[in-house]
Amino acid sequence: MKQLFATALAVVFAAWICPANAAQTDDGPPLWAWGFTSREDAPPVAATPAPAPDTTPHQIPGSKLSFTSAQISSRSAPADWFPEDHPAMPDIVAHGRESSDPPVYACGLCHLPNGRGRPENANLTGLTYEYIMQQLMDFKSGNRQTSDKRKTNTALMAGFAKVMTREEMETAAKYFASIPASPWLKVVESKTAPKTNPRGGVFLPMAGAQAGTEPLGNRIIETPYSAEDFEVLRNPRSGFIAYVPVGSLKKGEALVKTGNSKVTACTTCHGMDLRGLGPVPRLAGRSPSYLARQLYDMQHGNRTGLWSPLMTPVVSKLNSDDFLNAAAYLASLEP
Ligand code: HEC
Ligand code: HEC
Repeated sequence: MKQLFATALAVVFAAWICPANAAQTDDGPPLWAWGFTSREDAPPVAATPAPAPDTTPHQIPGSKLSFTSAQISSRSAPADWFPEDHPAMPDIVAHGRESSDPPVYACGLCHLPNGRGRPENANLTGLTYEYIMQQLMDFKSGNRQTSDKRKTNTALMAGFAKVMTREEMETAAKYFASIPASPWLKVVESKTAPKTNPRGGVFLPMAGAQAGTEPLGNRIIETPYSAEDFEVLRNPRSGFIAYVPVGSLKKGEALVKTGNSKVTACTTCHGMDLRGLGPVPRLAGRSPSYLARQLYDMQHGNRTGLWSPLMTPVVSKLNSDDFLNAAAYLASLEP
């Protein structure tokens, strides 16, 4: 960390003596990264999708278990379809703490028992214990917020961190840090994307007569392979596909590996393979929507944790196109 801070200080100093001339074309948080289609009338993000009351037991191929909708989305004991896929969950991950005020939901509800997470929250696999602990502290101190306040699940996350005990944080951080990263999403360059509906901060593919494609434009559309596996079943083995603009991977690669003479190459701190370096987080193979949100949040002073200053000189010289290209390329890498 010491060496990193030295590098960062040098970069901050350089930025101070020759002010950044980067054009900051800023139309607000990129809607695609937050799972909205409009600034005005998009519905607020539901913390957890509310399934219709349903007592029919659901099943998933490959799992011997069956759960009702209420069990699948329970905040204190969400379905664990494949216990064999992950280490034994500590109580805080499997059940949260219902007795606290506000109640802490089971981490496994949103981040899934295997930690792979979903685009509207975060993938917690392949991160270090130190990094996870620091993020929980940053949420707790109010230094991690989201730039589009309609995204209410980030506020929920911060609320959990505020009431969690040190021991609960350590237990959860140890658990997730013990799970190595694995492929969870596929990235394809495309001029079109499937038609989707934004729901709960995620774009769900339309079905039946509504299904079809639309121009992608200058967006990334990250969508589950199956809306049913995502929304109804919360299937922790059914991943995501991200449609990214044609040419974005090559542009992203140049930026990430060289910095395009605007910023320090991302590989300097995040590792040559972008799988993390010491406590600096892994970026390879993670959700492009999540990555772009973090870059924008850091650029706009909504993520100002203890270690965020290392990113300040980087994000202050980049624009939304750089964020999109970097996120597309990073997501496409083998985690
Ligand atoms: C209601 C859903 C929800 C639950 C339950 C939840 N989280 Fe989160 N978590 C989020 C969201 C949303 C984010 C931030 C996404 C954003 O703002 O882009 C997040 C982010 C994080 C991050 C930051 C990851 C990174 O790479 O910086 C950590 C660490 C984390 N959560 C840990 C936990 C732990 C531990 C628990 C259980 C006590 C938990 N979360 C429970 C929704 C949830
Ligand atoms: C000087 C070192 C340094 C450089 C260069 C750097 N990063 Fe970072 N990055 C960090 C640190 C440290 C963090 C953790 C910040 C925090 O805890 O708030 C981070 C966090 C991030 C995150 C959030 C990850 C998460 O899990 O939430 C993203 C995304 C990111 N960096 C992208 C990039 C990109 C893209 C580049 C290159 C354009 C880059 N970084 C260059 C040090 C660096």
